[in-house]
Amino acid sequence: MIVVMLGPPGAGKGTQCELLGEKLALPHIATGDLLREAMARGTPLGQLARPYIERGELVPDDVMINIINEWLATPGHEHGFILDGFPRTVNQARALDQALARVGKGVDRVIYLSVPVEELLQRIAGRYVCPQCGASYHLRTSPPRQSGYCDQCGSTLTQRPDDRREVAERRMAVYFAQTAPVIDYYQKRGVLSEVNGAQSVTAVLDAELAILLTLPSRTHTRTDRHGDPSQI
Ligand code: AP5
Repeated sequence: MIVVMLGPPGAGKGTQCELLGEKLALPHIATGDLLREAMARGTPLGQLARPYIERGELVPDDVMINIINEWLATPGHEHGFILDGFPRTVNQARALDQALARVGKGVDRVIYLSVPVEELLQRIAGRYVCPQCGASYHLRTSPPRQSGYCDQCGSTLTQRPDDRREVAERRMAVYFAQTAPVIDYYQKRGVLSEVNGAQSVTAVLDAELAILLTLPSRTHTRTDRHGDPSQI
């Protein structure tokens, strides 16, 4: 099963992709995480991406399309995958369709998480992340056990530089101008499902699973309660 997670900044894409990946035993790629990792390591990709990310703008399509094509060419994606943060423009969506068509595949379902803008800005303002292991927290809805420190590795939590209010607002404007048309693109293909992302994390996950586990065609996997992937 090939799933795209679509939604504005702060909608919960990363949170849901982690959980769905475990439930469905599918690998996922988060392009934002990949770019931040490249920035932290100071690679050529990181140096290229940094000014765009710091301004809250999109990294150029050709760069992102190459990244996804390279990822798709690596082993481990035979039973499907989940994409978080890609495609973000209609050009990227077309390139993904072309890459999948070359291997006789296509996007099975696009989950579009809709959340009111004010709630998005509050989520972004309250988000703290672990620079070591990548765990994400929210001051109000999912605080760490010990304030300021990661539950998983004990590192000091930080805020993402692009979560500052003015950059977050720019990201939101860029989303409506460049990413929102992707909703229409997938709607026309009949593969889009809108989920109310303003519910609790578990309610959103249940709604997504209800959609994905009743897809009519293609084989997909899930983990049973012991964590073993099983065909359903
Ligand atoms: P990226 O990292 O993908 O940022 P984003 O799309 O702006 O999304 P976020 O990570 O802010 O939010 P999310 O939807 O994942 O929400 P999360 O689960 O964290 O991209 C960053 C940048 O990289 C882009 O601006 C761009 O420059 C570049 N880039 C990346 N991909 C690109 C591409 N394809 N093309 C070009 N450029 C690209 O949740 C947010 C907060 O809310 C958390 O604190 C969480 O705990 C909380 N939360 C989550 N769910 C709930 C809930 N149900 N209720 C209450 N709180 C919740």
